[in-house]
Amino acid sequence: PKVIYTQPDGTERVIEGTAGDSVMRTAVRNGVSGIVGQCGGVLSCATCHVFLDEAHADDFPPPGEDEDDMLDGAATERRPNSRLSCQLKLAAWQEVRVTIPESQL
Ligand code: FES
Repeated sequence: PKVIYTQPDGTERVIEGTAGDSVMRTAVRNGVSGIVGQCGGVLSCATCHVFLDEAHADDFPPPGEDEDDMLDGAATERRPNSRLSCQLKLAAWQEVRVTIPESQL
């Protein structure tokens, strides 16, 4: 899978990820700044907040109740396309574009 991370200033990084990893894990492994993943992916931090490109919205299951609750407390105000990237598990075929919010903490 491929993930294109766009920083708030518009700079992009394209990462070739591993199937089964999340968008959060892929960022942390590759040193993509702005995705913290403090809780390690167990839905208790919201420091993995991203804006998921609308074109890929249907490629993932919709947010569960816990994710939805955590997004309400994200450091950067949520938008309709906000997701917690630890919940976005990548399949081999996927190419996903996400934008990183201004702040996570
Ligand atoms: Fe903590 Fe995603 S890494 S909620």
